[in-house]
Amino acid sequence: PSAVAVLTAAGSGARLGLGYPKALAQLAACSLVGHAASRLCASGEITQIVVTAPREHLEAVTHALDETPGLTVPWRVVEGGPSRQASVAAGLAALVETMSPSVPYDVVLVHDAARPLASPDLVRRVVAAVRAGAGAVVPGLSVTDTVKTVGPVSPSGAEGEGDSTGSVTGSPEPSLEQVTGTVDRTPLRAVQTPQGFRWDLLLRAHAAGHDRAHDEATAATDDSSLVEALGEPVFVVAGEAGALKITTTHDLAVAQVLVSSSAD
Ligand code: C5P
Repeated sequence: PSAVAVLTAAGSGARLGLGYPKALAQLAACSLVGHAASRLCASGEITQIVVTAPREHLEAVTHALDETPGLTVPWRVVEGGPSRQASVAAGLAALVETMSPSVPYDVVLVHDAARPLASPDLVRRVVAAVRAGAGAVVPGLSVTDTVKTVGPVSPSGAEGEGDSTGSVTGSPEPSLEQVTGTVDRTPLRAVQTPQGFRWDLLLRAHAAGHDRAHDEATAATDDSSLVEALGEPVFVVAGEAGALKITTTHDLAVAQVLVSSSAD
């Protein structure tokens, strides 16, 4: 049996504002997608990688991977879809095409190019947990911020209660939201990728997710939620701070610091 990976890189990266896909952003002379793919390879666990790319950037993503050192397993680039969920489904379909009956896949990882520094150790931890019997595994970190729920400012909430400085009177700024509660953070986990699954379970989860006819706005933002929707258990292994998700230029600057101080 072999473990294979879908690496999603078909997002636009609009919030990074580069004018080209985030996966092609450079981090210490390598693209984000290259960093993610080479760490998957360095785990020694993955035998094949399918990368999803935007249609108009298939060649650029292929070129970026051609330039990446350390890609020691077969990889190819396929066209993604309008949502992350659709892109993963396209990656899975490509893997189905190449599966040989003599070497079936037992584990599939789904990883985001947006988390370029997820370590080979983390990859191994996720694969090992799936092989130990957990059908679906996500890396998770405790939440350190205090988390609030918010809603629109209610008319009565805008009044203020006779603030002695007199600085909060009348209507608040239109941009304000009003806190409606404080969440107990003890049971919260911020989950990362790579997420790992028994091959047949993820196929079933995506088929059911597709049948629910998601559009872009309601598509799942990770794969484990599709497994949860089947009523199947999902397990958490320790995540890592270094597997941060690159969304903004601030995140890219943090990753730059991390990559220049890391050994791998
Ligand atoms: O946009 P966001 O950073 O949440 O995307 C998470 C991951 O999903 C990224 O690696 C992105 O390239 C990928 N993605 C995709 N297809 C889409 C949207 C996002 O492969 N349609």
